[in-house]
Amino acid sequence: VKHLLGIRDLQRSDIETIFQTADSFKDVLQRPIKKVPTLRDTTIVNVFFENSTRTRISFELAEKRLGADVVNFSASGSSVSKGETLIDTVNNILAMKVDMVVMRHSATGAPHFLSKHIDVPILNAGDGINEHPTQALLDAFSIREKLGSVEGKKVAIVGDIMHSRVALSNIYCLKKLGAEVTVVGPPTLIPKYLANALGVNVTYNLREALEWCDVANVLRIQLERLKMPLFSSLREYSLVYGINKQLLDSLHKEVVIMHPGPINRGVELSSDAADSKQSIILQQVENGVAVRMAALYLLSGKTPNITVTGN
Ligand code: CP
Repeated sequence: VKHLLGIRDLQRSDIETIFQTADSFKDVLQRPIKKVPTLRDTTIVNVFFENSTRTRISFELAEKRLGADVVNFSASGSSVSKGETLIDTVNNILAMKVDMVVMRHSATGAPHFLSKHIDVPILNAGDGINEHPTQALLDAFSIREKLGSVEGKKVAIVGDIMHSRVALSNIYCLKKLGAEVTVVGPPTLIPKYLANALGVNVTYNLREALEWCDVANVLRIQLERLKMPLFSSLREYSLVYGINKQLLDSLHKEVVIMHPGPINRGVELSSDAADSKQSIILQQVENGVAVRMAALYLLSGKTPNITVTGN
């Protein structure tokens, strides 16, 4: 059984296969009837132990556009509150003849753990501070669409690198595709050891990073994961690391602005920057459906001539 647990497990050729497949599905999504019967005989459960808007709806839409039967599970309101374990929860769902699992969990490694106990494909929809592979795929797919390729492009990832699974998956994905990556943010959120281990450039100077990059992927401060205050206030963070239109207009180039959402407007990104024509934030969301259709299709086992190496 193949899973999509993280970008770290993938080869560049796997990512390119996902993109080529997503190109086809993006064409399907432009048609009046946005559906194909590819996974008509497949039942997929979306198991969310952590809140989500984009990822959950995007996966559900992707599954329905592929013709799959879809079941949604949220930990809140379930028997998890009575003490049922993760493995028992998922095995009970699988006993009802479910073929694939999409899972988000606040614990790092939860889908990896689960993959050792069940024998259907698992797609990681975000695990703690580890990885969010489909977000990184849709981000890179959106850069490729906007700039023609990812190879050789300069991407700055801005903000809370330490707590962001989006940052980690993006770094793996962008480097595999030949982009140059710089991380920028306060030193408290970018430990040197982390940047060194990941093989990316580090700067604590936002303007320097923006003057350098083609694309800035701006991250939310993960307040729910912060163990200590990063600045005296979010206002102070915003003054030093917030991006607004005035700052973008003062640069010597036009930088493409990305954000995985949800945006804390006025903190990491002002509304005039988020909603500017430099922003491709809603294109990222649109592309998420096609990219997730591709990932689901390629992992479903219904593609006799295509394989991906996810473990
Ligand atoms: N980008 C992202 O993961 O958003 P959600 O938390 O709303 O799914």
